[in-house]
Amino acid sequence: MARRPTGRRIGRREDFPDGTSRKFTLRCRGQSLEGFVFGFNGELFAYLNRCRHIPLPMDWLDNQFFSVDEKYVVCANHGALYEPTTGECVWGPCTGAWLKKVPLKVEEGTVRAFCPDD
Ligand code: FES
Repeated sequence: MARRPTGRRIGRREDFPDGTSRKFTLRCRGQSLEGFVFGFNGELFAYLNRCRHIPLPMDWLDNQFFSVDEKYVVCANHGALYEPTTGECVWGPCTGAWLKKVPLKVEEGTVRAFCPDD
């Protein structure tokens, strides 16, 4: 019997080349959560779209999460910069805090997102 896939399907691996990002929603413990996924250095990363300074969405323009130099995830509200591979805030009012990572799994080219731990 085929195993039923779990997690929320958010696209195909080829949908997220480096420098692209896209928001998605997850239903976790009865709550709707918004996350974003992006390609960076040949890998995929996903975090909740909630800044660690004030819990607001971070994209100013829809699905735009990167600094102009494309080195950092940026919060458009007050300019905090986050390291893309770890989610650590490295500049701004939340320095030292971490974005909440959304676990991803890629199976047969399909990308699925899972509820983050509390
Ligand atoms: S809300 Fe993100 S830096 Fe202030």
